[in-house]
Amino acid sequence: MTQTILVTGGAGFIGANFVHRWHSRHPQDRILVLDKLTYAANPKHLEGLDRVELIRADIQNGELVAHLLERHAVGKLFHFAAESHVDRSISGPAAFVQTNLLGTFALLEAARTVWAGDSQTRFLHVSTDEVFGSLGDTGYFSETTPYAPNSPYSSSKAGSDHLVRAYHHTYGLNVVTTNCSNNYGPRQHPEKLIPLAISRMVNGEAVPVYGDGQNVRDWLYVEDHCAAIERVMEAGNAGEVYCVGGDNEWKNLDLLHLLADQVDEALGRAAGTSRGLLTFVKDRAGHDRRYAIDASKLKRDLGWTPAEQFPSGLKKTIAWYLAALRK
Ligand SMILES: NC(=O)c1ccc[n+]([C@@H]2O[C@H](COP(=O)([O-])OP(=O)(O)OC[C@H]3O[C@@H](n4cnc5c(N)ncnc54)[C@H](O)[C@@H]3O)[C@@H](O)[C@H]2O)c1
Repeated sequence: MTQTILVTGGAGFIGANFVHRWHSRHPQDRILVLDKLTYAANPKHLEGLDRVELIRADIQNGELVAHLLERHAVGKLFHFAAESHVDRSISGPAAFVQTNLLGTFALLEAARTVWAGDSQTRFLHVSTDEVFGSLGDTGYFSETTPYAPNSPYSSSKAGSDHLVRAYHHTYGLNVVTTNCSNNYGPRQHPEKLIPLAISRMVNGEAVPVYGDGQNVRDWLYVEDHCAAIERVMEAGNAGEVYCVGGDNEWKNLDLLHLLADQVDEALGRAAGTSRGLLTFVKDRAGHDRRYAIDASKLKRDLGWTPAEQFPSGLKKTIAWYLAALRK
């Protein structure tokens, strides 16, 4: 059976990887990508894919969203679109409230209006573990962790999570939410830690390390996140939340050391060359210390496990960026 799915933010990092995955695994489906094409998007990532239509528009345009849902009989909406960079949310929070909060609201309203009471439809909201705040040296975030967002980014995402939840409880909209840890892999915007570090290392430029470099993040290969999203769409329980993580905690400084060694190896450089570029800079305001996810619900209930190992995933990522930089 052919179907048309709607993917918001499909020209961004995770969205584009998701579109590629869905495209190859569902050869009958049409994929509508609704994306404003902000600085973070790269429509080239979608070039050459048949059955994919890119519609340049703001998710806040609820009328257009309703029209697309109706006209194409869309039954599955994957909501990736967001302003996603914490540093930018500190210098300019307004866009975060507009897209992440009001944009999600507009999508929910459109879905509620068009899908009214149709249990065969589903709205999947892609969110972040940053809504839970910061951990100390021990413990994990899970689906029952109270929300405590610390940045304008995470608080706008937290607000959107609450709206999604409310649309299920109040209107019965068939929603599922995923809260995922840090992603890495191909097609990420070069402002983010791993691609930024790779391009600086390749160019022999200083690589900034925030604060003391001891902040901990749980890294997940983007393909594994996309697999989790697909699994939650097909088998998650309506109204429920699933935490997604890699069981893969790294202090930023340790990660940058591993990355530096792998970049040197890939470029055939003397060991230690790229480590020498690491430069400590002033910490990010309100920088959360540690994130770590307990993904046991997703593993137990839906049988998902991450397939990629960190060192090999990082190698693939470096190879992808080196090829992209050569183009
Ligand atoms: N990157 C991560 O590590 C990570 C981890 C967990 C969750 N998430 C969530 O996953 C989603 C995707 O993240 P990403 O890293 O791919 O982000 P990204 O910044 O790479 O891409 C976001 C995409 O959304 C589009 N967009 C922004 N505002 C829009 C608007 N108003 N209307 C339509 N499109 C708009 C952009 O043009 C871009 O293509 C986000 O919701 C983010 O909160 C990201």
